[in-house]
Amino acid sequence: MKRLPVIAIDGPAASGKGTIARRIAATLGFDHLDTGLLYRGVGMAVIAAGKDPADAVAATAAAQGFNPASLDDPLLRSDVAGPAASKVAAVPAVREALLAFQRRFALAPPGGRGAVLDGRDIGTVICPDADVKLYVTATPEIRARRRYLELASQGSPLSETDVLADIEARDRRDMSRPVAPLGQAPDAHLLDTSDLDIETAVARAFSIVRAAIGT
Ligand code: CDP
Repeated sequence: MKRLPVIAIDGPAASGKGTIARRIAATLGFDHLDTGLLYRGVGMAVIAAGKDPADAVAATAAAQGFNPASLDDPLLRSDVAGPAASKVAAVPAVREALLAFQRRFALAPPGGRGAVLDGRDIGTVICPDADVKLYVTATPEIRARRRYLELASQGSPLSETDVLADIEARDRRDMSRPVAPLGQAPDAHLLDTSDLDIETAVARAFSIVRAAIGT
């Protein structure tokens, strides 16, 4: 049986990867999985249990008991969830516990047409055989500006300087962890969105995807 197409989109926080992934999935009629939400969900579950997200034992227990049905909780998009996610994401047993769900989604997306996954290690670890891989990035300052505007519209009190500090700390943590560090797969297409508005970024991503999977 022919495998359904899989599109892997990785990159750092606020690079534009989530919007690009959502738009590609909607246009092609594919299912989209924002894998950051899984780590955000585990991070928030640890906090709800009164524990520290950097506590590997608590994070592992939360990941093993995690129910991906709750991924649309708006709390997962909050300014507390991002840093918590990046702490639990550095724990190897947490990544291991979330792996099968992500692979199953890629292999058998619910809509039966194809899958778009976005995250940090989709092209390198989760779906190394993806039909097309994108690595979406932008300078930390530009990403901080975008994320600041997004969080401010949700009522977050964080300043742009706070957001930049969080983004830089998360980049460092995500890129330096021993298991599944954030990085560009050798066969991923690089898309730097620093000087692109979101429409242009989506259009560039589309032309790469269409050339690769012939849609
Ligand atoms: O939206 P944003 O890019 O800020 O974050 P996200 O994609 O929701 O991911 C939150 C955190 O989860 C990241 O900082 C990573 O530490 C972690 N993550 C990961 O390790 N692997 C993934 N596939 C997705 C997210």
